[in-house]
Amino acid sequence: MGAGKTTAARSLGVPVLVTDDVVPIELFEQGEAAFREAEARVVESMLAQDAVILDLGGGAITTPRVRELLKEKATVVWLDVDVDTCWERVKGSDRPLAQNYDDFKRLYEERRPLYEQVADVKARDAHDVALAAAGIVVEAGALQRLGDFVQGECALVSDPNVAGIHGMDAQLALGAKLRQSLELPAGEEAKTLTALDRLWQELRLDRSGTLVALGGGCTTDAAGFAAATYLRGIDWVPVPTSLVAQVDAAIGGKTAIDLPQGKNLVGAFHWPTRTIVDPALLQTLPERERREGMAEVVKTSLLAGENLHDPLDVRRCAAFKAAICLRDPHDQGERKQLNLGHTFAHALEAAAAYEGVTHGQAVALGLKAALKLSGRDTSLVEEILEPKPVRVDRERAWAALQRDKKNLGGELRLVLLGGDGPEWDVPVPAGDVRTALDELISG
Ligand SMILES: NC(=O)c1ccc[n+]([C@@H]2O[C@H](COP(=O)([O-])OP(=O)(O)OC[C@H]3O[C@@H](n4cnc5c(N)ncnc54)[C@H](O)[C@@H]3O)[C@@H](O)[C@H]2O)c1
Repeated sequence: MGAGKTTAARSLGVPVLVTDDVVPIELFEQGEAAFREAEARVVESMLAQDAVILDLGGGAITTPRVRELLKEKATVVWLDVDVDTCWERVKGSDRPLAQNYDDFKRLYEERRPLYEQVADVKARDAHDVALAAAGIVVEAGALQRLGDFVQGECALVSDPNVAGIHGMDAQLALGAKLRQSLELPAGEEAKTLTALDRLWQELRLDRSGTLVALGGGCTTDAAGFAAATYLRGIDWVPVPTSLVAQVDAAIGGKTAIDLPQGKNLVGAFHWPTRTIVDPALLQTLPERERREGMAEVVKTSLLAGENLHDPLDVRRCAAFKAAICLRDPHDQGERKQLNLGHTFAHALEAAAAYEGVTHGQAVALGLKAALKLSGRDTSLVEEILEPKPVRVDRERAWAALQRDKKNLGGELRLVLLGGDGPEWDVPVPAGDVRTALDELISG
């Protein structure tokens, strides 16, 4: 009671069934047993539905049958909030079990071990609930527990840099579950048909096997696509090791490889069974790679409406993207907002033939342009990301921007930040877009 379950559940924007809305509180007058019996029946019928969030009354787990049902059919997220905070929220309400602080505290202490017993995940806030719903674990030291998150036999796929630094720890953590350790080339080279062909041929897993992808976004994109296609699809568990991958690439189930004609042109949506984010792994990340990731952190913070003086951390970035992707897994609607600044970025990268300008630099420039077109101040983005105009051919960049797949019927469409938050598919006059693009180009 008062932990904030309903608020956290509703914040995800997916269907929520609230047991307390259905079980009549008046039943309490006939005694708690009658109420709990009715509640257990409601829980059972609600759990028969797929892909919903069940917002369970705080005392439901005192019924053994409910605990059994939860173990069997649900992922249980325990929103762990201290007793005084809960009391502050419920005191003075008409809830029958929240009329007196001492009784309330006794109840809290009685129930606590039961919560501990049924919980699959312990959450502090709505961000943790989003992560739990998406199967994402964010925890310093999680790599050491990797074996706990993988079912059955697995193959570990990494790139030579990451394998050299963190491969041994991953192998030790996977222990007897590890059938083979394989490598993809470092960087975009991993996302080629040649690299993928080799990986497909080396894999020895059967359909019950799991592919564990340890590395940056190139490794998780390519290995995830291998998992989506090998034997028509096997389970996979990304363990992202770069900032780009922890806050973006490994979240949301998009996997892909590149074609000579463009990046990410062949791929699949393939949601991982678990995603293991260990922020401690970032300690070995080179500074230039950290800067690449900062562009995505700033993008996510802008979308979330956060103050850029205090940008989101890895956990909240991952949770923000996860919640959007849970609501729009196939990129049909609100997921498009994640492209903030990216239309400009892709145009600049294409004009540079993907050489001499990194994705992070291009996104930093793109964010500046998107903010300007949104009528927002750009000074903090400039201070944090230091976007420097790039020397590319203006006409090539303009031609690439007009080819962007988000444009419709010749009209340019962008993601912008409106008064009420992000807006996507916003038509913007070509002249304004061209001016904003030109300002990102030097010479
Ligand atoms: N699927 C998606 O939704 C999505 C989203 C964003 C980006 N991406 C893709 O991600 C890719 C870029 O990802 P990236 O920037 O992580 O590139 P990357 O995988 O090439 O990693 C960058 C470099 O850092 C090294 N590295 C990674 N982790 C390290 C660590 N902990 N310590 C030391 N070195 C480490 C890697 O070996 C590599 O050399 C692009 O191909 C992009 O298209 C995909």
